[in-house]
Amino acid sequence: MFLSKLSAYASSPIREDDILASKLAKEGNKVIKLNSGDPAKYINTPKRVIRAYIEALKKNENYYSNSQGIEPLREAIAARHKKVYGLDADPEKIVVTQGISEGLQFLNTALIDKGDKAILIRPYYPLYTSYLQIVGGKAIFADATEENNWDIDLDALAKRVKGEKRIKYMLITNPNNPAGYIISRKKLEEIVGFANEHDLFIISDEIYDELVYKGSFTSISQVAGDTPYMILNGMSKGFVATGFRLGYMLIPNEDEKSKALLLKLIELAQMRLSPNTPAQFAYAEGLRNLSAHNREVSKLRAILKERLYFATKEVNESDYMHALPPSSAFYVFPKLEMQKLKFKSDKEFVRSLLIEKYIQVTRGSGFGMPGHFRIVALPSKEVLEEAIDKINEFCKEHSVKR
Ligand SMILES: Cc1ncc(COP(=O)(O)O)c(C=O)c1O
Repeated sequence: MFLSKLSAYASSPIREDDILASKLAKEGNKVIKLNSGDPAKYINTPKRVIRAYIEALKKNENYYSNSQGIEPLREAIAARHKKVYGLDADPEKIVVTQGISEGLQFLNTALIDKGDKAILIRPYYPLYTSYLQIVGGKAIFADATEENNWDIDLDALAKRVKGEKRIKYMLITNPNNPAGYIISRKKLEEIVGFANEHDLFIISDEIYDELVYKGSFTSISQVAGDTPYMILNGMSKGFVATGFRLGYMLIPNEDEKSKALLLKLIELAQMRLSPNTPAQFAYAEGLRNLSAHNREVSKLRAILKERLYFATKEVNESDYMHALPPSSAFYVFPKLEMQKLKFKSDKEFVRSLLIEKYIQVTRGSGFGMPGHFRIVALPSKEVLEEAIDKINEFCKEHSVKR
């Protein structure tokens, strides 16, 4: 066998129909892409961040940087966590990555041997499973369901982990993609209690922490105390900078696990030399002026909230799907009334929708939740309306006649 067995786990459900979508577009069809959560396709990156990127290039700041990330950026990240969440974070406890995606790869390489396990919450961000499985890890799932108002069921999880050994970490997405919920402070405290009871390292992906429209967001750093944890965040969403994106891993505590993991992540970061250097200067500049950033983000939030709530309303007018109004991010995650439709699976639904109506969305099974699909609510209201009308029309055309 030429390819490795583990490479079978290389997958991104969000992009799996990209080749077909491009082919359809090349044939002259107007394809509406609602699959990738890329705000930069619809909203401009703040000008001052772009200027800082160009300025860095002009000053020849385009060498291999420190593998962990340039100091001014790590200082700016630490200062933001202090200002927003009251966390005394040492810049030395931060590793800058080429997006959270690279951080996920480092994390799993650092922690997972074949047969090790990690707890993920369904619905999850698809790359969590891909990066876990590709190094031989196995997921144990907790569930958040819309019937339960997206509350994470820790009692069921406790039963699932009973007798299980070698569980390395528990990964939460707060705010959540795809379901748009935020985890309450009380639930976060319970998660910390659960992690302590089962000796788990907590990973909290907080990439949407600035895109919250309803309720109040609590960072894991506000409740974790001495429990070992890591925060993942980055510039893709809040800075609308997906093209030259960066992420980071922040491990603030001083326990043995945190210290060992941090050192290992730095070694892994050294293996890939360094993240994009001009982008680091741009990100540092973006964060340094936090009041300018806050002004930019509130404008962004207002635009995104309007589009997201519009899309949710449109979805809920259909007889074939429904979605709880999300509190954050920019995704609608409708549940399909599968019994009213002729499709055997959400995969078939999504692929046929692309072929017949030229609309690309992502199947719920890619997030560990079959029978759903995810709409990226980033385009203008006109485009969203056109797309959701077509999805509805498509459902009617494939409905079970009674
Ligand atoms: C929850 C979550 N984590 C991580 C990522 C990837 O982030 P990055 O662009 O920093 O790799 C995304 C992108 O959509 C996401 O939704």
